[in-house]
Amino acid sequence: MDDQTSAVAVIGAGLMGHAIALTFAAAGRTVSVYDPELASRASLPGRVERSLRDLGRTDAQVDQTLARITVCADLAEAVHDAAYVTEAAPERLDVKRGIFADLERVVPAGTILASNTSVIPITQITALMSTPERAVGTHWWNPGHLIPLVEVVPTEWTTDDTVERTVATLAGIGKSPVRVKRDVPGFIGNRLQHALWREAINIVEQGYCSAADIDLVVTSGFGRRLAVLGPMANADLIGTDLTLDIHTQVLYDLDGRPEPSPLLRELVGDGRLGWKSGEGFMSWTAEEQDAVRERVSAHLLRMSEQLDRVPEEET
Ligand SMILES: NC(=O)c1ccc[n+]([C@@H]2O[C@H](COP(=O)([O-])OP(=O)(O)OC[C@H]3O[C@@H](n4cnc5c(N)ncnc54)[C@H](O)[C@@H]3O)[C@@H](O)[C@H]2O)c1
Repeated sequence: MDDQTSAVAVIGAGLMGHAIALTFAAAGRTVSVYDPELASRASLPGRVERSLRDLGRTDAQVDQTLARITVCADLAEAVHDAAYVTEAAPERLDVKRGIFADLERVVPAGTILASNTSVIPITQITALMSTPERAVGTHWWNPGHLIPLVEVVPTEWTTDDTVERTVATLAGIGKSPVRVKRDVPGFIGNRLQHALWREAINIVEQGYCSAADIDLVVTSGFGRRLAVLGPMANADLIGTDLTLDIHTQVLYDLDGRPEPSPLLRELVGDGRLGWKSGEGFMSWTAEEQDAVRERVSAHLLRMSEQLDRVPEEET
């Protein structure tokens, strides 16, 4: 089977499954999506269509992409001819282990089995497999059709061939795959993101500024250049010597506690859960939440149009 043209399958038709399926299909691949829940299966085409409209696709492109997606209630039927399978089922170890055990019984030999887990170690998900060499983590970011990054995470059993085929498959549909060399907690993106969030929460806890001002510092400050200048290039830009001087002056005062902030625990204990309850670090009306959602979507779309390679599409 040719990795760049063969059919692919997506296991789980939820938020991530719909984005993964549409990304493969929009790049011209035939996609089968399996989900045991009727409601998820029934709503998938409508959700894919909405996301394609958000991407500015024409009626003809929407129709062509939808025609490449088949929704299945039977796992074996969904994966019987797939060269590449991505699991995007609920974030529970027992569920994912069960799916990988079932997949091993029904997929063709040589088919790559990828998990889109956010935080469960890939090693734990694939530990009971008889063919763990073809299993790999592929961590897509939400919204999967607008964020190009996919972290590719091997276990100690994953072969180089599986990693390289996965990277080539993802690159072939216009994603930006990044090889994570070890199955470490949080992979790369969430380690970086939560190092920043830990210090942000610490600053609020210490009373150095308000939560709203933290966000203003990021969105009107260094966040502006992060999309085009990563921290490693930025460190080289200012010089490793200056970076060393800054770290010597500052690192000792940053939060180094190996546990969540007491302020975060307090918020959760008080039921201040953020958007879910209308209050977290800040207060949120429904209108304010909608405005943020729209701002983020519009921004990601503009970034995608300006910065990303658009996958080949038949017209
Ligand atoms: N939501 C995010 O921002 C995000 C980002 C990256 C990774 N992830 C990961 O992707 C995976 C899916 O997350 P989501 O947000 O799409 O969840 P979701 O709840 O939107 O979708 C999960 C889907 O899996 C289906 N499902 C339930 N049991 C199943 C089974 N046994 N086999 C196959 N499908 C089954 C459900 O019916 C549902 O449609 C999780 O592992 C999650 O951690 C989520």
